[in-house]
Amino acid sequence: MSVRDVIVLPTKPAVARAAADRIVDAAASAITARGRFTIALSGGSTPRAMFQLLASDAYRTRIEWARVDVCFGDERCVPPHDPASNYRMAREALLDHVPARVHRMRGEDEPAAAAAAYERELRELFGEAPRFDIVLLGMGDNGHTASLFPGLRAVEERERWVVAEYVAEVSMWRLTLTPVVLNAAAEVLFLVAGADKADMLHRVLEGARDPVALPAQVVAPRDGRLAWLVDAGAAAKLVRRPA
Ligand code: 6PG
Repeated sequence: MSVRDVIVLPTKPAVARAAADRIVDAAASAITARGRFTIALSGGSTPRAMFQLLASDAYRTRIEWARVDVCFGDERCVPPHDPASNYRMAREALLDHVPARVHRMRGEDEPAAAAAAYERELRELFGEAPRFDIVLLGMGDNGHTASLFPGLRAVEERERWVVAEYVAEVSMWRLTLTPVVLNAAAEVLFLVAGADKADMLHRVLEGARDPVALPAQVVAPRDGRLAWLVDAGAAAKLVRRPA
């Protein structure tokens, strides 16, 4: 059974802090229970402040980074030094500053081959069951999440763990984890901030279910928790405002 919480924080920095605190707690529990913590990072602007916070003096030592496997939820098909690379953003904000094991998607390779290689890497990490302790996600103002875009095939994938797809909307190949992996996670954290997300957040959380048009709706961990950490701007159009 999946449990869904919507938590409204006053500002975008408060969203970053709440997410960082949950990651610290989840890492401690996972490392105590199983000796390691696995997390999939998202791209986008909202997580950047959270990554910088995790790398700061106040937070860095609160996680035993040598026991952390850092993966990616999606990647743009560009080289790792490209300004559009999700890996580059995460490296600059966080991964250059902590000794985690990093598993990046190879955006510079042929997309289908890069997707297959990343699936093999995840299978080595997890074996048969791709259970991340935390998957971080964002939501675009068109309802996409990771690189599951409206009307495309990745959101309907039921077998493969990682796929490549050309996204005409952004004129770019993307690599993405599929719902097979996202919905097997122990915890999924959506970080959403800004008034420009308010209409879409209302549609995704309170509108009719149509995951092909609104891929963020496909995320519902089968045996895990789902939390939406949103700022007041993004929450402005929610009818059922959480307390
Ligand atoms: C990407 C993403 C993407 C992102 C959303 C939200 O590579 O673009 O991983 O799914 O999370 O577009 O991005 P913002 O947080 O910047 O609004």
